[in-house]
Amino acid sequence: MENQKKINIGVSILNADYLNIEKEIDKAQDAGADFIHLDVMDGSFVPEITFGQMMVKSIKKYSSVPIHTHLMISNTDDQLESFIETGSDAIMIHAESCRHIYHCLNKLKEANIKAGLALNPATPVSVIDDIIEMIDCLLIMTVEPGYGGQKFIENMNLKIQKADFALRKYNENTSRKFFFEIGTDGGINEETIKKAVISGANYFTVGTAFYRSKNPQKVLSALREASQRALEMKI
Ligand code: DX5
Ligand code: ZN
Repeated sequence: MENQKKINIGVSILNADYLNIEKEIDKAQDAGADFIHLDVMDGSFVPEITFGQMMVKSIKKYSSVPIHTHLMISNTDDQLESFIETGSDAIMIHAESCRHIYHCLNKLKEANIKAGLALNPATPVSVIDDIIEMIDCLLIMTVEPGYGGQKFIENMNLKIQKADFALRKYNENTSRKFFFEIGTDGGINEETIKKAVISGANYFTVGTAFYRSKNPQKVLSALREASQRALEMKI
């Protein structure tokens, strides 16, 4: 299964300069981001409010790399359709705010959008057991959602391993070769990315470390090198 793994590193604009969003997107693209991660927050599921469908749509039009939209909203079921219409290439919904997880993931699949399921730190991996093949990317929140710049919760490496194990077990039991990406969101830097790769993750979002740096290009290439080295070590 490891050889299917390709490292994907995207940039979250949560802590970017909102007055210069075009430049900030350019910065991520020029640095070689695999995708742009958009954090939609509604002030209910998480305390802050960021932006909504209009902004996602505009950024999608502008960006030359895929747009991955992370929905940190309370009413996922009723708002999903309008986010699908933004043209996002991937949408990450939260297991905690979805009344009907299967149905929502199915909507994403029908729309040919990469289907992501995000799990808060306290939500167990077992929530995926009976819907595993609906998931293209399992996004393990490595911080409590809501703010950029938080510290990676170390114990989430164990959770990444559990997700990796669940996938192997499922394939063993069903003689299948199904694969989903295992992602992290929050607190990624050169050190945390290595441990996450070794635990089984291959998809990463970096925000603060990228936009706070004077040399964001260097940040991204350092993350790429560190994760590639860790991946090769694992294989
Ligand atoms: C947290 C957000 C993250 C965050 C990650 O709620 O979902 O996407 O911006 O960025 P950093 O690197 O700041 O932890
Ligand atoms: Zn996010």
